[in-house]
Amino acid sequence: MKVKVFADAHGAGRAAAREAARQLRERPGSVLGLATGHTMIPVYGELVRLHEEEGLSFKQAVTFNLDEYVGLGEGEQDSFCEFMKLRLTKQVDLAPGSFHIPNGLNMDTTAECRAYEKMIRDAGGMDLIILGLGRNGHIGFNEPGSPLNSRTRVVALLEVTRRTNDDDFRFVKETPREAITMGIATILEARRILLVVTGWEKAEILSRTLTSAPFPELPASFLHTHSDVTLIADGEAMEAYLEAVGDSGITFNVGPPA
Ligand code: GLP
Repeated sequence: MKVKVFADAHGAGRAAAREAARQLRERPGSVLGLATGHTMIPVYGELVRLHEEEGLSFKQAVTFNLDEYVGLGEGEQDSFCEFMKLRLTKQVDLAPGSFHIPNGLNMDTTAECRAYEKMIRDAGGMDLIILGLGRNGHIGFNEPGSPLNSRTRVVALLEVTRRTNDDDFRFVKETPREAITMGIATILEARRILLVVTGWEKAEILSRTLTSAPFPELPASFLHTHSDVTLIADGEAMEAYLEAVGDSGITFNVGPPA
């Protein structure tokens, strides 16, 4: 895993956006995997700025979001779908039909999950996926216990996840109990992975992720099995890891900007 550390969440967000922009400039028809959550707000803010001010185009791109709550979907104000429209997809020139997210309103969840996997495959797989990290080590909504071979499916959200996400619900009375998420295997099939982690609240779990062998109780630890993962973090998120490695330290190459 490559590690890049930035002064704050905005710096990390801008760096993640620049990586995604580079991917799009090299291959305009790229298939991108996208996450929701607070960590992504500066990432999408910078992508929108790059589109508006520096001509970054999404015209040929295709996107697949990681997850959605069961019972929420397009038009529901607290859905991940609306988060994406507000923060990114409606703010750039993505072609109609190129933005995909599991439909949490589809009553036939089995069919929905199967169709989502097929759509990703038919698009040629994801070139780059941007992930956040849950406080309990989840990626997407793959909660602790998620196996390495898991695919897009319905998952029960743990109480700790529901409580952490409570603040996101202004219109839904109760934080949903289930979600549809890409599986670990689905995520790991992406050719490149960016893991974006910021803030002191993530320091402990990031340290455990970086030092743990891959195992289901810490889903993010499965990222060690992938050959092209870049962690983009801020100083706060890295703090517990740096304490844990102590004397052995880690080496950074620091020089004047290119
Ligand atoms: C969410 C999402 C994840 C996200 C994670 C962290 O609920 N399902 O995709 O990465 O939890 O969210 P945040 O960035 O708000 O801390």
